[in-house]
This record gives sequence, C-alpha cells and structure tokens, in this order.
Amino acid sequence: MIALGCDHAGYEYKLEIIKYLEARNIEYKDCGTYSLSSCDYPIFAYSTAMSVKTGECEKGIVICGTGIGVSIVANKVPGIRCALCGDVFSAKATRMHNDANMLALGSRVIGKGLMFEIVGAFLDTEYEGGRHKKRLDMIADIEQKR
Ligand code: RB5
Repeated sequence: MIALGCDHAGYEYKLEIIKYLEARNIEYKDCGTYSLSSCDYPIFAYSTAMSVKTGECEKGIVICGTGIGVSIVANKVPGIRCALCGDVFSAKATRMHNDANMLALGSRVIGKGLMFEIVGAFLDTEYEGGRHKKRLDMIADIEQKR
C-alpha cells in the first residue's frame, strides 16, 4: 500500500496520482489534505511518513508546491528516507542506492507528464543493496544520535 499526502498546492497532483494507482490496481492510503483550502503541509507530510514508519504502508508519496517542505518534514521521522525528485534519473537512483521509502514532488516545479514518469520510476525500481547497505546503516546510526 502507498501512503499519499499533500497540502493545498499538491492536492490536484495527488488526485492524479490516485487515478494512476487505481489504473495499476495499487492500493493507497490517502492521508490528506482533502481539498484545495489552504493548510499546513507539516500535518499531512507527518501523517504520511508515520504510515510508512509503522509499516502500514510500504512507501509514501508527498506533494506540496516545491516538494521541499514535505520532504523536510518526512525526513524528520526516523526510518524515513524521503527523496525530492524532479527528474526520472534521480527517482531511479534513489531507489537503487538510497532505498528511498518516500518520494516528494513539487507541483509548482514539474509538469504532470514528468510527475507520472517519476512516480512510475519510484514505484518500479528495486533497491540494489550490496555496497549501499553500509551507507544506509550509517544513516540509521546518525538517527540514533538525536
Ligand atoms: C504553499 O504555498 C507552499 O509554501 C507549500 O506548498 C510548499 O511549497 C512548501 O514547501
């Protein structure tokens, strides 16, 4: 299951991602926001990240105007590796190398066509493991130093 979260700026893109997931028969959990009314992105990025952290959802996607605010929030949650991607190469690489479990997108930065390509790459690319595992362990160690 994929957790989805956004603020008002990301709301329309989230609806597009929901249609995309439904077309692929991929289950999702919609963590809000649920309208175009102005809201605070930390609320929704946090609840989306918690759905991933608890294991309820395997991955998460968060969207705001730039993708920056939601990615900052998601990365505050231990165990979350949220990658802000504006290109397909980064979306593939962050799955292969960083085992990113969340994707952040900026609705005011990228068009919908590119957004679908990035989401597809994020969902369909596997983590490579191997030499990258040591580095992910180092990230986990840093989280313990808080
Ligand atoms: C909302 O106007 C905007 O600040 C928000 O969507 C996001 O871009 C913050 O990082």
